[in-house]
Amino acid sequence: MIRHLLSGADLDADTATQILDTAAEMAAVAGREVKKLPALRGRTVVNLFYEDSTRTRISFEAAAKRLSADVINFSAKGSSVAKGESLKDTALTLQAMGADAVVVRHPASGAPHRLAAWVDGSVVNAGDGTHEHPTQALLDAYTMRARLGRLAGLSVAVVGDVLHSRVARSNVLLLSTLGAKVTLVGPPTLIPVDIAAALAPDTGVCYDLDAVLPSSDVVMMLRVQRERMNDSYFPSAREYARRYGLDGPRMGRLPEHAIVMHPGPMNRGMEITPEVADSPRSTIVEQVANGVSVRMAVLYLLLGGNNR
Ligand code: NCD
Repeated sequence: MIRHLLSGADLDADTATQILDTAAEMAAVAGREVKKLPALRGRTVVNLFYEDSTRTRISFEAAAKRLSADVINFSAKGSSVAKGESLKDTALTLQAMGADAVVVRHPASGAPHRLAAWVDGSVVNAGDGTHEHPTQALLDAYTMRARLGRLAGLSVAVVGDVLHSRVARSNVLLLSTLGAKVTLVGPPTLIPVDIAAALAPDTGVCYDLDAVLPSSDVVMMLRVQRERMNDSYFPSAREYARRYGLDGPRMGRLPEHAIVMHPGPMNRGMEITPEVADSPRSTIVEQVANGVSVRMAVLYLLLGGNNR
């Protein structure tokens, strides 16, 4: 097993499949009345969050606790980071406290990679800037496999603000490793030139959402990340929704079996309408539940659940 999980590219097909299979076993625990395993008793997991998060932070905390680890939650607000302490000094503090795993979310792309060089424990990237978010890609893959029975050969459209999306990057890497065919869809201003070829050679790019819907098994809608936009990438929210928003009539153009995903948080009415978000085809709530099982599997395997 790998020591750190920093990128979707850290996972070969066997390792990714092992994580997904382990997550399926972990999901069985979530169905029990006592949702706890002793696997990580005596181990310490630190959640180091320098950026806002609801789902991911709570999900990692629940995952570590269900494995009986001691969990320390650190948020930059209210810590010495507010006094200007560097990531390195924070890392050395965590090291001195004996963290076995550090789960880190940071606004700077690459921060988890730096951290991995400074601590002895495992580092899990919980989202770094616009770069990567590998556990989100794993939970997305898990959800697709659970709903559609396979990953190899699936056509997955990843739609919207690809430019700012770490979710899109990690998904392209992981899904292509697992044999799915990804097409990035959005306005040309929000799809970086050459991104597809740079991440995985057979990734497609299309600027017309209506053209890709009839042949998609999965449509993954991305949040328009206004907090990362310092430019106008499209004329107006209305125009964006008209061309790239998923509404009822558009959803009707998908094949019968196709599913609709979104990592959350959603801008309802912008990239997705409430009618679609709350429809039976939507896996949005399942994705959150699956996130806990997948993160349990990641922590368990990285911390040597089966080999240390
Ligand atoms: C995503 C993130 O923070 O990268 N959300 C998540 O982790 N569930 C996507 C987003 O913020 O749009």
